[in-house]
Amino acid sequence: MLRVAVIGMGNIGNTHAPVYKADALSELVAVCDIIKERADKAAERYDVPAYYSVDDLLKNQQLDAVTVSTAGVENGGDHFEPTIQCLEAGLHVLCEKPISNDIEKARAMVAKADEKGVYFGINLNHRFVPPAARAKKWVEEGKLGDLLLINMTMWINNPNETSPWFHLRALHPHSLDIMRYFCGDVKRVHAFANRAPGRVCYSNVQVNLEFANGVVGHLTGSYDANPSHNLERCEVMGTEGRFVLENLYQELTLYPRRSDELTVIRNSIMGGLSGFGATFQNRIHRWLEQVDAKVPRDQIEASGHEGLAVQEIIEAAIRSVESGKAESVPAR
Ligand SMILES: NC(=O)c1ccc[n+]([C@@H]2O[C@H](COP(=O)([O-])OP(=O)(O)OC[C@H]3O[C@@H](n4cnc5c(N)ncnc54)[C@H](O)[C@@H]3O)[C@@H](O)[C@H]2O)c1
Repeated sequence: MLRVAVIGMGNIGNTHAPVYKADALSELVAVCDIIKERADKAAERYDVPAYYSVDDLLKNQQLDAVTVSTAGVENGGDHFEPTIQCLEAGLHVLCEKPISNDIEKARAMVAKADEKGVYFGINLNHRFVPPAARAKKWVEEGKLGDLLLINMTMWINNPNETSPWFHLRALHPHSLDIMRYFCGDVKRVHAFANRAPGRVCYSNVQVNLEFANGVVGHLTGSYDANPSHNLERCEVMGTEGRFVLENLYQELTLYPRRSDELTVIRNSIMGGLSGFGATFQNRIHRWLEQVDAKVPRDQIEASGHEGLAVQEIIEAAIRSVESGKAESVPAR
């Protein structure tokens, strides 16, 4: 059983903590927040000690792993410091997305985890749903033939403004992770963006992507939409057919090229995923399973390296909006 603490007790820390408490592979042993009231409230809720600094947490608790669910600028500005402290202490770290809003810091976090030889995962939870695994299996079994195209849409309502690139850096780790999950590394991007009236943030973006395997893709993203209608949609096409994954896990359809018969998998009301919160349970359980099983470090799903890879694509998209040209994504 892994001894785990959660650092950063906002809404998302309070989503991770009960998952660790309920999972048979982990024991939640402490919570930590620099805001005393938040730490105390969570400590009472989960019946564990509260700490008000990572230093104190590390001095006083024997831990195996932590969640870093801090936020900060562009929802990632506060991840670097506690992550580095915990990696330095030899702990396995599951960090919220974006790994960091600062690409140099993101690179340093991944390098530190490699140097210390500990596990480093990112909470790219959207891919941890059974229909995505099923669609991936179709790809691996060749049901789509050779991959050709991918279209991805992710849109939510987020009126918060912190910077011009908040939307791209904070939301699109998720969409780009789904795209990489099916189609692999991205080589080049060409992006256009606009701001809804009155916004500081580039709240709408269109990105064309060229993948290393030759697939060409497109991402539509928005912070000006209502996610209740449809949070995301992913469509992958190959020489033998295509699939559409609607709304993370609600419906997966296979459209074979040479037949009119469809395969449709709907989320079951009898035992299917109960809501978005289930993506956290699935992702954290998989992280715990892999850490507990001591899998080779490069097999960690949604790893720090993968969290960095999506951030590199985002930075290339930002460069492209600024330059008006297609921009290369650094090779991994
Ligand atoms: N995976 C998802 O689906 C998903 C969804 C929403 C948000 N998020 C991510 O979750 C993270 C947290 O979001 P939130 O809305 O809970 O943020 P929040 O601002 O409400 O909470 C973050 C907390 O971290 C604390 N904190 C900051 N630095 C700290 C430090 N060094 N040590 C201890 N505590 C520290 C803050 O005091 C705050 O209470 C963000 O990175 C966000 O991008 C992920």
